[in-house]
Amino acid sequence: MGESEENDESLEENDFLTHIGEQLSDIQLPKQFETSSHWMITANHGFIPYAQEELRRTYGKLKSQILVSGEVALMELPENHEKVWEMQRTAPSIFVRDMFPILAAAKTSEELTQDRLENLWERIKERAGLYLEEPTSISIHTRKSGKLSSFDLHELRAGLQQIMEGEGHQVVIQAPHLICSVYEHEEMLYFGLSTLVDQGVDWPGGAIRFQREEGQISRAKFKLLEAEQVFGIDFSQFKSGLDIGAAPGGWSSLLLERGVEVTAVDPAKMHESLQGHPQLTIINQNAGEVAFEPNEFDLLVCDMSWNPKHTAQLVIQLLDAVQRGGTVIVTVKLMHKKPLQTIRDCMEMFEHDLQILRAKQLFHNRDEITLYMIKY
Ligand SMILES: C[S@@+](CC[C@H](N)C(=O)[O-])C[C@H]1O[C@@H](n2cnc3c(N)ncnc32)[C@H](O)[C@@H]1O
Repeated sequence: MGESEENDESLEENDFLTHIGEQLSDIQLPKQFETSSHWMITANHGFIPYAQEELRRTYGKLKSQILVSGEVALMELPENHEKVWEMQRTAPSIFVRDMFPILAAAKTSEELTQDRLENLWERIKERAGLYLEEPTSISIHTRKSGKLSSFDLHELRAGLQQIMEGEGHQVVIQAPHLICSVYEHEEMLYFGLSTLVDQGVDWPGGAIRFQREEGQISRAKFKLLEAEQVFGIDFSQFKSGLDIGAAPGGWSSLLLERGVEVTAVDPAKMHESLQGHPQLTIINQNAGEVAFEPNEFDLLVCDMSWNPKHTAQLVIQLLDAVQRGGTVIVTVKLMHKKPLQTIRDCMEMFEHDLQILRAKQLFHNRDEITLYMIKY
């Protein structure tokens, strides 16, 4: 299984299917629609080969055309799109940051009159199996890649919005019921429609962005903020958290803001703004040298920059201090050449004591993924 990870370059090439766009152009249904579906898949930069490898393992085979090197691919999966959503819900891919089904396509060279857009919208709804008899809220996500084009996505967006509002729907920016995605690439427009529940986040391409706060201690804080949002964790429900590899203190500061009492372990110095915080205990030691009372914490977070298996071992050693049902969030650093194998090894180590709820490469994860787990 790890072997194919050695050949990431050829992995892309082998599956490279040119002209998928041609098949989909002019809103023709692919003939095999019932047994396959087309998807726009986005991963963090450099990780699309791993998203592809995961999907290949799930579906047995796929065809893929890379649109943005290392990042965005148009894939054909051998199941219809409802079945793919169902499979993604059951076992979400780690490296797929965002995906939407391509339900219609059009060429930018052909004039997109309002009539034509209306036809496209009808086709998109029909193919999505969403008849939208009741008014609902919809976000329109537009993105483009490839050669710079003069095509005006704003105008297209305005046209779509007019049609949707004409049907009584509300076009919103955040927390929509549905997301209508439009992706422009080299004279092709790809359209999709999915629920927010399926798509996961209401940011185009899954690129969640947070505002940098004044005095923010570290960018790492964004990782925990994103985990909170994407995994739907309410940190304010925890009483006592252990933060391993805590310095300079971005994660600790977020937990403190949520009202959690925090014990931060790191030989490196915590940010001065956190020194003396009444809810914070700082232990300037290596995490391998500390010990705690059983069941002292209901939350353990670990963002330690260390070898992933050593980190897993260290977290496991500290699990006695976590109550049953407690939450454990760990970033797994992908230092080696075989991320999928590294993740599998670490997950196997954790599985004995922890139920793994999600493993996901978040938008703010660089060469790492985040595990969201519950202690048995
Ligand atoms: C990416 S930083 C953590 C950033 C932090 N989550 C934040 O939000 O500011 C990784 C930290 O892991 C710490 N670290 C590495 N090995 C460690 C160990 N064995 N025990 C405790 N901390 C360790 C490093 O000192 C470093 O401060």
